[in-house]
Amino acid sequence: MQEQAHLPIGLFDSGMGGLTVFKAIAQRLPWEDLLYLGDTARLPYGTKGRETIIRYTLLAARRLVERGMKMLVVACNTATANALPDLRKELAPLPVVGVVEPGAQAAVDVSRNGHILVIATEATIKSAVYEHAIVRLRPNACCSAKACTLFVPMAEEGLMQGHLVEEMAHYYLDDVLVHASGEKPDTMILGCTHFPLLKQTLAEVVGPEVTVVDPASNVALCVHRELEALGLLGDMGKLGRHHFMTTDNQERFARTGSLFLGRTLSCEEIELVDL
Ligand code: DGL
Repeated sequence: MQEQAHLPIGLFDSGMGGLTVFKAIAQRLPWEDLLYLGDTARLPYGTKGRETIIRYTLLAARRLVERGMKMLVVACNTATANALPDLRKELAPLPVVGVVEPGAQAAVDVSRNGHILVIATEATIKSAVYEHAIVRLRPNACCSAKACTLFVPMAEEGLMQGHLVEEMAHYYLDDVLVHASGEKPDTMILGCTHFPLLKQTLAEVVGPEVTVVDPASNVALCVHRELEALGLLGDMGKLGRHHFMTTDNQERFARTGSLFLGRTLSCEEIELVDL
């Protein structure tokens, strides 16, 4: 076991969406200490330009480095898609795990016809990282992509079901699914950490022929494997401590974060930090 093994795993997201990844990691590795930073002061990242996303992500990562961590999980597709190489370069030799590769792998594993639809923020879609990762893993795969910007505020409003979400899903997805020419996608990746909140409604709208993939559980598996390979797994005999940091409005982070985490978060658990 390496001496850094006792340190927490750091997780970063533009806001609360990354808590869906946090939840999957906490379920898989209940003994690990987890340190989460959500940059709610600058949210959303998904509509910003690449250079801005890189700058914000590096600022947040530096704050986590100051606190001490044994691995960084970039629990944000937009930050992974745009800033992963810069993060790895700056933080080396600290291991940095993104959400895109594990998400692409999970989709490739379940797709039968090799036609995969990625839904994500504008900045993730623009980067085309999912398409590149999918084609690297399965060279004859075919990808469709759609930016679904309004799903982000909908998830934050707790609007997960009902006609508004259904209409929004049809608005974004009908032209890539219903009106698509050629063989239709049989797999859809939720390429934004906010989207798992809408999973049930989205699955109903796209129908049973399309498998909806949330990358989070495969991210947790990758984190587990990498910690193991590096000799960085923590003491499995204890229960991990969870600490949350936000850059704005703890009250809103607690309220909205509870939806993403699936348990009630209280303001007292959340530290306000400045980048
Ligand atoms: N959580 C971000 C992601 O996974 C989306 C939210 C945002 O636009 O900042 O891409």
